[in-house]
Amino acid sequence: MDKVLLVYSGGLDTSICIPLMRQEYGYKKVITVTVDVGQEPADIQLAAEKAKILGTEHYTVDAKEEFAQDFCFAAIRANGDYQGYPMSTSIARPLIAAKAVEVAKKLGVKAFAHGCTGKGNDQFRIEFGIRTLMPDSIIHAPVRERNMTRTWEIEYAKKNNVPIQQSLEKIWSIDENLWGRSIEGGRLEEPDFTPPEEIFQWTKSVDQTPNKATEITLQFAKGNPVSLNGEKLSPAKMVLKLNTIAGENGIGRIDIMEDRMMGLKVRENYECPGATVLLKAHKALENLVLTRDEIRFKQTVDQEWSKLAYEGLWWDPFKSNLESFINGTQTRVNGEVRLKLYKGQISVLGRQSQWALYSEDLASFDSTTFDQRESTGAVKNFGMQSRMFFHLKEKYQKEM
Ligand code: ARG
Repeated sequence: MDKVLLVYSGGLDTSICIPLMRQEYGYKKVITVTVDVGQEPADIQLAAEKAKILGTEHYTVDAKEEFAQDFCFAAIRANGDYQGYPMSTSIARPLIAAKAVEVAKKLGVKAFAHGCTGKGNDQFRIEFGIRTLMPDSIIHAPVRERNMTRTWEIEYAKKNNVPIQQSLEKIWSIDENLWGRSIEGGRLEEPDFTPPEEIFQWTKSVDQTPNKATEITLQFAKGNPVSLNGEKLSPAKMVLKLNTIAGENGIGRIDIMEDRMMGLKVRENYECPGATVLLKAHKALENLVLTRDEIRFKQTVDQEWSKLAYEGLWWDPFKSNLESFINGTQTRVNGEVRLKLYKGQISVLGRQSQWALYSEDLASFDSTTFDQRESTGAVKNFGMQSRMFFHLKEKYQKEM
């Protein structure tokens, strides 16, 4: 085995893996694969250039539409959320692993390498993905295996002529895709550190946003967003466009304490403008068309789905069974939502659907169809068991 496929982002961790694979792991040939899931085009370009400088056989796989349609939209239908995080990084990992395996199979490669550290979640997601799709693969994680520090990595990079942008002062580790942007590292992990404005690139600070609100209309079919302001858009274009519009209005900055899979509690900063808008609009439509019991039960299903998605267990049978329920409900999530975006806030201006479980005639104050007098008996018997218990408690209090 003399060839290894490196899942390559062009960042520091993965870049030092190139000389490491040759010098320390003894591979003759390093193949690098960068999967385009909507990160800055300049970064994709840069990764390819670095790979060229470092002499690898390099592949860029454009997976933007697939990512939006099969991953981001699945997250919308499931109201995907983990502790306030739309799981942008998480849901891209299974696809990145799948694309890496696809290239490996074509080239007859069985050895993989990735740049994940031992502290994060990506090691679980990436390795699960590769192992699921290629059970006899060998996977190397040099940064984790050699317990590397960032300082050591920078030194090693310099020694081996690996081009790097990071300096010891600017050490943000950034992960980007259509669904969001994550900024980690350095003091950003501290719960009580105020993030500097410079970490944000997709969202304006609210004091820089327009003083006039932006109104938009989103059309959904089977729980998927299909058009924006009457214009039909492909899944990736939809998310990209909303990232711009919502980011301009300061929407989608997320700052949470996140419980990682390892049990570490870490402060996380995200920018997810498009995802924030789409999730809010989708929920507004669900609340119009689903029954009360469906909504209540779906919250549990959605949470279970989100836990699996967070952990990257994309091909788990529990997940597909949860999706049977989720997608069953989504057949009626068709219609339109109007929203106002203003100074970091999203307000729902209106929603409509042919499946609306709302009857103007029944709900309105002037209605004659709903005879109020008929409620009397229902109200009288409401809470009967609670009332009985209350009086029993008074009677037998001493024995309790
Ligand atoms: N904590 C998040 C997750 O596990 C985001 C990780 C993003 N990685 C990064 N290097 N910024 O999904």
